[in-house]
Amino acid sequence: MNATTGAARPRVFSGVQPTSVLHLGNYVGALQQWVKQQHERDSVFCVVDLHALTVPEAVDPARLREQTRSVAALYLAVGIEPERNVIFVQSAVREHTELTWLLNCVTPLGWLYRMTQFKSKSEGRESVGAGLLDYPVLMASDILLYDTELVPVGDDQVQHIELTRDIALRFNVLFGDVFKLPKAQVPTLGARVMGMDDPTVKMSKSIAAHRPGHAINLLDDAKTVKKTVMAAVTDSGRELRFEHASPGVRNLLAVYQVLTEKGMQEVEAEFEGAGYGHLKKALVEAVMATLEPIQARYREYMDDRAGLDALLASGADRAREVAAGTMRRVRAAMGVG
Ligand code: AMP
Ligand code: TRP
Repeated sequence: MNATTGAARPRVFSGVQPTSVLHLGNYVGALQQWVKQQHERDSVFCVVDLHALTVPEAVDPARLREQTRSVAALYLAVGIEPERNVIFVQSAVREHTELTWLLNCVTPLGWLYRMTQFKSKSEGRESVGAGLLDYPVLMASDILLYDTELVPVGDDQVQHIELTRDIALRFNVLFGDVFKLPKAQVPTLGARVMGMDDPTVKMSKSIAAHRPGHAINLLDDAKTVKKTVMAAVTDSGRELRFEHASPGVRNLLAVYQVLTEKGMQEVEAEFEGAGYGHLKKALVEAVMATLEPIQARYREYMDDRAGLDALLASGADRAREVAAGTMRRVRAAMGVG
């Protein structure tokens, strides 16, 4: 995939589920990192629509298709360059599902039952699809198909990447050295953006779906962002220092720091002696300065349907080429196909 330069840049793979509009946690924890590293890495970015099928909200096919295009447009709008990186939709490359079956056969069930995301997503549900339990094996397939070295994600995904390593290692022991062992890459700041309305929980798409004021969505207008930030939970204190701040205030300071790319001391100096209102106002400005250009580019990509579809089709072709090569190795090692 790196035929143009021939240089050995480390392969990166990451993806986001098109379950709903992406939020600021997705941006800071994942997308922003992808953009920053795109010149030093050989990157593959995927819209993982097959993963989105594991949640009950994904029962509307037209909506899933539209959300998938929308997330792809957001990848482009945040600044991922399609000439330098591969951007594609997971379901367009059938090798992902084929590898999932083969890896299923070397993955002990106990490993899957231990996943905290499976536990929390299945909790309290009367009926849980097999896909929800198998979700991390599909994710392992995504990663292993591309000989991935680094997987930039927020910290909630680290357990899945460790599982991917375990599956790859087990496969290599049983069938010979086929897979590279990937590593998670978690940002030092912003790996866990907390909810605006409740700083004890991670900002999440599923909570945002039923609680306005929880998340800042990447497509929110200035009025909505202002409302959400101004209502964000803080505390009754005043001190704007990272060390002494309550979880709510620390979250606001951290998001401000990441978006403005200022150092911790610089941020503390900026707000010395100021109240929380001041911090919130500055944060609204920083959020909008980030979101407005993204939203303008997003609309351009969404308005050019044919252009976006062509970009995704060419991304899928490039991805398929690599994935097909890996599958030849896997089939040969296992004695199938
Ligand atoms: P998801 O929303 O679960 O599809 O996650 C997509 C990407 O965003 C993954 O890399 C997550 O680790 C990351 N992510 C999701 N929520 C947050 C959050 N609140 N803070 C930081 N990163 C997040
Ligand atoms: N499970 C990831 C999430 O919810 C999305 C994902 C699917 C992914 N396949 C991946 C992330 C491969 C990184 C690499 O965020």
